[in-house]
Amino acid sequence: MATRLPDTDLPLVAAPMAGGGTTLDLLAATTDAGALAFLAGGYQAPDALAAQVRAAHAHGRPFGVNLFVPAPPGTPTLDPTALAAYARRIAPEAAALGVTLDPGAVPAADDDAWAAKVDLLRRDPVPVVSCTFGPPPAADVAALRAAGSLVLVTVTTPQEAVAAQELGADGLVVQGPAAGGHSGTWDPARTVGDGATADVVAAVAARTRLPLVAAGGVDGPRAVAHLLAAGAQAVAVGTLLLRTDESGASATHRAALVDPRFDATTVTRAFTGRPARALRNGFVRRHDEDAPLGYPQVHHLTRELRRRAAATGDADRLHLWAGTGHRAAPAGPAGDVVRALAAGL
Ligand SMILES: Cc1cc2nc3c(=O)[nH]c(=O)nc-3n(C[C@H](O)[C@H](O)[C@H](O)COP(=O)(O)O)c2cc1C
Repeated sequence: MATRLPDTDLPLVAAPMAGGGTTLDLLAATTDAGALAFLAGGYQAPDALAAQVRAAHAHGRPFGVNLFVPAPPGTPTLDPTALAAYARRIAPEAAALGVTLDPGAVPAADDDAWAAKVDLLRRDPVPVVSCTFGPPPAADVAALRAAGSLVLVTVTTPQEAVAAQELGADGLVVQGPAAGGHSGTWDPARTVGDGATADVVAAVAARTRLPLVAAGGVDGPRAVAHLLAAGAQAVAVGTLLLRTDESGASATHRAALVDPRFDATTVTRAFTGRPARALRNGFVRRHDEDAPLGYPQVHHLTRELRRRAAATGDADRLHLWAGTGHRAAPAGPAGDVVRALAAGL
């Protein structure tokens, strides 16, 4: 028997956006407008996430928490010499921002405090937990479900969908190639491509009866209707919320999303070592081809460079995560974005 997503007024989801995009204000505004919203648990310290979870509970609307699944034990990590070689190649970018790169200081392993975050969500359960970047351990899925959460797993192919169902997921986030930010692909070496999200949704819907949340490339209400018609029970948006009043995106990122100088998005691992869709800026043009596969090492290597780029308004060197619908991202209240997307439903 297929489970159902939590009851919300609208079949819309405010997607998790780690790195600052998601805020408690964004969660409040989008859930008040009738959407289901996710906190972004990735990158956060467990204590900070625990505080956000308490605040989200206090707001009193259904919400979810998104976690990054660490690479399974035994996954090869990036060879330190390859990391050092990339550090030499991008050193002039860092120097232009007054940053010195130190590949020797990059942690060899980083599981984003997965176990501590699962523990906190077992102690303080939330309506929905979603997991991205790979298959979560089945025991953790079972534990989160036993605590009362619906567990969603992000998938990018029908094969991943079948595997997620087998490990006990209650539902799937079907992320298409048009999505902004990191791809949730379970195989970061795979070419994510440029296909339509609706095609991935239809292919997944043919293989499972689990409820599906479609994500990727939404630029207005017609795209929402199209994804629902393809088989999704709800549609998630990320990029369309980045320029709203309640978003935590930097001023540099907000401006770039509608800057005519940036006329294309591309999937690149140049910033973090994992494929992610971003506006095609100078950093992408200069380094996309030679960037190694190696998340989270490349993420740690470039972190300070990117922080300085955001702070100084250097859009040419910032990771400008963006889905293909970025030109339609409006300024103003996030609730208006949710209501506009629901027009015609
Ligand atoms: C700035 C940004 C940060 C993101 N961070 C996360 C994240 O932490 N976890 C996650 O599962 N997806 C993340 N995503 C992907 C979104 O959850 C969602 O799949 C995507 O935004 C949908 O495509 P759209 O941007 O075209 O609406 C992020 C996307 C953006 C734009």
